[in-house]
Amino acid sequence: MSGDLKWNKIFGAGLGTAFAILVVQQVSSAIFAPHPPEKMGYFVDAPEEAAGGAAEAELPPDWGTLLPVADLAAGEAAFARCVACHTINAGGANGIGPNLYGVVGGPVMHSAGFAYSDAMAAHKGEAPVWTYDELDRFITAPQRYVAGTKMSFAGLRDTPTRVNLIAYLRAQGSTGYAIPAPDPARQPGAAAAPAGEAPAVEGTDATGAEAAAPVEGAAGQATTQATPVAPPSATSTPTGG
Ligand code: HEC
Repeated sequence: MSGDLKWNKIFGAGLGTAFAILVVQQVSSAIFAPHPPEKMGYFVDAPEEAAGGAAEAELPPDWGTLLPVADLAAGEAAFARCVACHTINAGGANGIGPNLYGVVGGPVMHSAGFAYSDAMAAHKGEAPVWTYDELDRFITAPQRYVAGTKMSFAGLRDTPTRVNLIAYLRAQGSTGYAIPAPDPARQPGAAAAPAGEAPAVEGTDATGAEAAAPVEGAAGQATTQATPVAPPSATSTPTGG
């Protein structure tokens, strides 16, 4: 009899333990139930930044003031981010992206023979010329500005870097594209300017644009000339000549 009782106790203790484990499992799974994430994976973007910028209505760069004093060497350094896909020398080959010689002030889809995306073609319909502002917006966030573009580049968010880069791009075949006159409406603190002073309409301010151009020319020449020309000493001359 006493043996039976002993086994009852052991069996009972085992049952109790098993029951306790079951309860703990149930309770913990109720507390720590796995919730599937609303978005899977990591999507890296900075929409808040864009939203914030839009809300503050950030002024576009004042090209007339900034380009003449831009740092072309820094712009060339910034262009290092582009060389994986773009050449910039005159007559340079199209790569993953089109050659960019003379793109500043040139037509959108300026490089004949490059297979642009439908998105870029649609963009050309809306904004046919790569003005300073257009280039600036595109380079800031290509995918956001031309949705569906096949330029898979995250963008350059730093404005001074973009200004230097655009000055460098301009020096490569676009020096004929005039720099606009300084625009007080784009200078810091201009938000408080009286609304009556409407910005000059393009074209009516031609004298101002012309006056600003030579100033830049002097600053821009030195680096423009740096583009090396093929050395004249050709070692392998083809037949003829
Ligand atoms: C990963 C490759 C890649 C990188 C890096 C890249 N681009 Fe592009 N870029 C392209 C492609 C591809 C296109 C054509 C886009 C299309 O057709 O939608 C393009 C188009 C352009 C255009 C329009 C040219 C035209 O003829 O209308 C400009 C301007 C441009 N890129 C500038 C830049 C600059 C400046 C940088 C560096 C800050 C840069 N890109 C970095 C691939 C690249």
